[in-house]
Amino acid sequence: MSQDSDFISTNALLNLEGQRVLITGAASGIGEAMAIRFADAGAECILLDIDQSGLQALAAQLREQGSEAAIAQVDLERKSQIDEFWTALRDEDLPDILINNAGVYALKDYLDIDKTFLDTTLSVNLESIFWMCQNFIKRRLRTGGVIINVSTIEAILPFKKDLVAYGTSKAGVIALTRGLARDYGPHGFRINVILPGAIKTPSTKRLMKMAIQKFKVDLIKTGYDFQTRLALSRWGVPDEVARVALFLASDLAVYVQGAVLPVDGGFLSS
Ligand SMILES: NC(=O)c1ccc[n+]([C@@H]2O[C@H](COP(=O)([O-])OP(=O)(O)OC[C@H]3O[C@@H](n4cnc5c(N)ncnc54)[C@H](O)[C@@H]3O)[C@@H](O)[C@H]2O)c1
Repeated sequence: MSQDSDFISTNALLNLEGQRVLITGAASGIGEAMAIRFADAGAECILLDIDQSGLQALAAQLREQGSEAAIAQVDLERKSQIDEFWTALRDEDLPDILINNAGVYALKDYLDIDKTFLDTTLSVNLESIFWMCQNFIKRRLRTGGVIINVSTIEAILPFKKDLVAYGTSKAGVIALTRGLARDYGPHGFRINVILPGAIKTPSTKRLMKMAIQKFKVDLIKTGYDFQTRLALSRWGVPDEVARVALFLASDLAVYVQGAVLPVDGGFLSS
C-alpha cells in the first residue's frame, strides 16, 4: 500500500459492480469463461462474437445465474461491421472495460500461405483489435478505461510448426498494446496484454485431436515437448485465464500498464 493512499478492502478492489465489460470471442473457450467470471464479479457484460447461437446460449446461462448480458453478432474480419457496432452503441451503453479475446488458430505451411489466408489471419487476430481499441479510446477519451488484449506464448516463442502467420499477427498485438499503453496512459487508459498457453478450449482440443488422428511423428513429438515444458505439469482451464483478466481489469492492478503477462503454466519460463 502506498503511504499516501487510503486502505481499500480487497473485496472492494475486485468488485466490478457498476462497470460494463465488452468481451470479444465470448461464445467459446477463454472468452466464455471471462464472461462468466466477470458477471460473477458484478460486471454487466456485452458479449460479441460471430457465433450467434453460442452467444445466445451463454446469455441464457448467465441469465439463469442472475446476470443479464447484451449480445452482438459481429464478424471481426470486417472493419465495416466493427464500425457499425460502435456507431450503434449509445454513449450511456459504452463499456468501461474492453477485452479483445477473439482469435483464429491459422495453421499453414509458410510456403503455402497466400494473400487471402494472410489477410484473414491478420484481420481477425490483429486488425480487429486495432479498430476495436481505436473506437473504444475515441469514445472514452475524456473518461479513460481498461483494455486487455489476448496474444499468445507463440508470439514470444514459436514452438509449433505452421504458425508463422498466427505468430506474426499475435506479435503485432503485443506491439499494439504497448504502443497504446504508452500513448494513452496519460489519458487514463490502462492497457495490458495476456499471453495464454496450453489452455484446454474447444479449439485447442480440436487441434490436439487432429494431431493424433493424423498420427504425424513430428506433431506428436512437438506435443510431447510442449507438455514437458509446462512447469506446472498440466494444461490450464479457461477460467484460469479469466481470473488473470479479472485481476488486470480490477483496481488491484491500478499501477499495471503495458504489461505482457503469460498465463501458461510456466511454459515460457522453463
Ligand atoms: N487456448 C489456448 O491455449 C490459447 C493459447 C494462446 C492464445 N490463445 C488465444 O486466446 C483467444 C481465445 O482462444 P480460445 O482457445 O478460447 O479459442 P476459441 O476458438 O474457443 O474461441 C474463439 C472465439 O472467437 C470467435 N471468433 C473467431 N473469429 C471471429 C470473427 N471473425 N469475428 C468474431 N468472432 C470470431 C469464435 O467464434 C470463438 O467463439 C484467441 O485469441 C487465441 O488465439 C489461446
